[in-house]
Amino acid sequence: MALKQVRSNDEVRQLDRQYVFHSWSAQGALNPLVIAGGEGCRVWDYEGRSYLDFSSQLVNVNIGFQHPKVVAAIKAQADILTTISPATANLARGEAAQRIVSHAPENFSKVFFTNAGADANENAIRMARLFTGKEKILSGYRSYHGNTGSAIGATGDWRRLPNDYSRGHVHFFTPYLYRSEFQATTEQQECAAALHYLRRIIECEGPNTIAAILLETIPGTAGILVPPAGYLQGVEALAREFNIMLIMDEVMAGFGRTGRWFTFQHDGVVPDLITFAKGVNSGYVPAGGVIISERIAHFFDDRLFPGGLTYSGHPLAMAAIVATIDAMEEEHVVENAALVGDGVLAEGLHKLADKYAIIGDLRGKGVFHALELVSDPVSKTPLSAALMAELKKGLLDRGLLGFVAENRLHVVPPCTVTIAEIQQGLGIIDAALADLMIDK
Ligand SMILES: Cc1ncc(COP(=O)(O)O)c(C=O)c1O
Repeated sequence: MALKQVRSNDEVRQLDRQYVFHSWSAQGALNPLVIAGGEGCRVWDYEGRSYLDFSSQLVNVNIGFQHPKVVAAIKAQADILTTISPATANLARGEAAQRIVSHAPENFSKVFFTNAGADANENAIRMARLFTGKEKILSGYRSYHGNTGSAIGATGDWRRLPNDYSRGHVHFFTPYLYRSEFQATTEQQECAAALHYLRRIIECEGPNTIAAILLETIPGTAGILVPPAGYLQGVEALAREFNIMLIMDEVMAGFGRTGRWFTFQHDGVVPDLITFAKGVNSGYVPAGGVIISERIAHFFDDRLFPGGLTYSGHPLAMAAIVATIDAMEEEHVVENAALVGDGVLAEGLHKLADKYAIIGDLRGKGVFHALELVSDPVSKTPLSAALMAELKKGLLDRGLLGFVAENRLHVVPPCTVTIAEIQQGLGIIDAALADLMIDK
């Protein structure tokens, strides 16, 4: 091993602070958590502290850390061929595409591989524009689609604003009953109003100018905003009526997170393009891609596709995908996410919501849940950043990595999480919330 032997967290933290430039941050005050290793749902540092990971890092480690079959597959592929051009035919790449297509709806036939989720959306947008000959992309204000040109242009949250140089993007409000933009008081009203508003946007923007609607099936970073029953079907119907492509961004919600291989499968909706990354191989080697429906794939049979990446279908990433999907099938990982997530996790979170008035809203599916915290349940004033930071620290001090975003705690453990681990994690969240209440 070429890395030096390390005994303290500080050695690694200092190295990081001297040389590493971090994402989405002012660099000066950063104090990153040091992680040395991991296994299953746990990670640990160099000084014997271990953490239960209820964040799955950036909601990507669906299969848990160091899954032996995936690690072995990467090692085996490294012994055979560590890199090869995307223009070649490679066994691992073909098998990875075959396995991904096998979990997509019947009308899907091919996969274009990318390095991650942003470039997956980038290329899906490119395909939709070329296929339709139209330019505009409609996407949610409450969304994140990645940090590159069109993907950040399609993003709705604050991260678009300093990066807003891409053209042809129109945003709209997706359903969020707890803070309804439509003055709705029921799920049905929220659904009907959101669909009416989307129809009006399509009419006013001109259906002949709109290439695609790009949607996170469940907006993730924006707050795990599970849409009301009928919303996704309504969007699909509008897309069909106006001959607009429907792109489902399954980068965060896909590959088991909500207890299905793809989250739109809960609603029986069939998009035209599916983007994925994260859970496809839990980020063991970076990979993402676009799953392409037959008619769009066919369109490019005799037309050049003007897009590509040096590492499209990288063999190490592909070997990790094949092993991940096989392990998920053999070990019923997706079923576990549904069983444990909708069972003991959801029940435990509901109990916490009954116990603590600061939990203003609770929503989720599978191992994809969010608690929205408020200082006053009537005014729904978001809990302050200071208290959220205190909560994060309270969790960390008790050995739990939580995904804290604005005034929300996202409870998103790996899909392999056990009932015992859920119970332990819920106990820690309970204790950290109780402490917060005493402090207040
Ligand atoms: C829904 C969604 N789409 C796209 C992306 C971008 O993926 P990546 O960071 O792999 O480029 C993310 C990342 O969090 C995401 O959550």
